[in-house]
Amino acid sequence: MAEPRVIITIDGPAGAGKSTVARLLAAALGYLYVDSGALYRLVGWQAAENNLSLDDAQALSAFLERLQPEVAADTQGFHLFLNGREISQVLREPRVSREASRVAVLPPVREWVTSRLRHLAANGGVVAEGRDLGTVVFPRAKAKFYLDASLEARAVRRRQDWQNEDASTEKVARELAERDRRDSSRAAAPMRVPADALVIDTTNLNPQEVARQCLARIREVFPEIAGLEMKTG
Ligand code: DC
Repeated sequence: MAEPRVIITIDGPAGAGKSTVARLLAAALGYLYVDSGALYRLVGWQAAENNLSLDDAQALSAFLERLQPEVAADTQGFHLFLNGREISQVLREPRVSREASRVAVLPPVREWVTSRLRHLAANGGVVAEGRDLGTVVFPRAKAKFYLDASLEARAVRRRQDWQNEDASTEKVARELAERDRRDSSRAAAPMRVPADALVIDTTNLNPQEVARQCLARIREVFPEIAGLEMKTG
C-alpha cells in the first residue's frame, strides 16, 4: 500500500530553527521543503525594486497580477526564479527581511502567497514553514509544530547565518523583536501558535534533537508512514 503523503507545518519566529528542522524532516520523509517566507521576501524585494510603496495594498495587488516567479523545490532547497534568474540569494539580505515583514501585513499579498503555497502542496508531501501555515494556510494539517527560542539565542543564530560581524547581537535582537511585533500584531493572519501544534523551545536544543521530537510526533499521528528511521545525524 502506498504511504500517505501528508502536509507538515512548522511555524514560529525568525531564528527559532524552522528552516534547518524543516529540511531535516523533508529529507527524512522524502518530502518537498517549502519556505513561505521566501515568497513574502520576493514580494517585498520586488515592490522596493519597482519603487512601489510597501504599504499600498492596491498598487501591490495590481503588481502581483503580473508577478510570476518559478519555484523549484526539493527536500533541501526552495529556489525562486524571476525571468530565468535565480534570486534566492538576494532574498536573504537583511533589508529584504524588513520589506517582507511590511508587505506581509497586506491581505492581497497574503492571498497571493497562500494560493501559491496551496498549489505547491496540492498533492501533499510537503514540509512547509512560516508564520501562519498551521493556522491559516493548512489549518487541516494533522502534524503541526511551533518552534520558539529566547530572543538572544535567535539573534546569535541569525547573526551567524548572515556571517555579519558588523551587526552586534544586540542590534540583531532589536531588529528581530521589531519584526516579531509586526508579524504577531497584524490583523491579517498574525503569527500565532496553532491550537493543535506541538510547541518546542529550541533554545538549548540542536536541530537534530528538535527533528527527532518532531518525527516522534509524526509517527504518533501517522503510524502508517514508514521509513522514519531518519538520518538526523
Ligand atoms: O521566515 P522569514 O524570515 O523568511 O520571513 C520573512 C517575513 O515574511 C516575516 O518577517 C513575516 C513574513 N512571513 C509571514 O508573514 N508569513 C509567513 N508564513 C512567512 C513569512
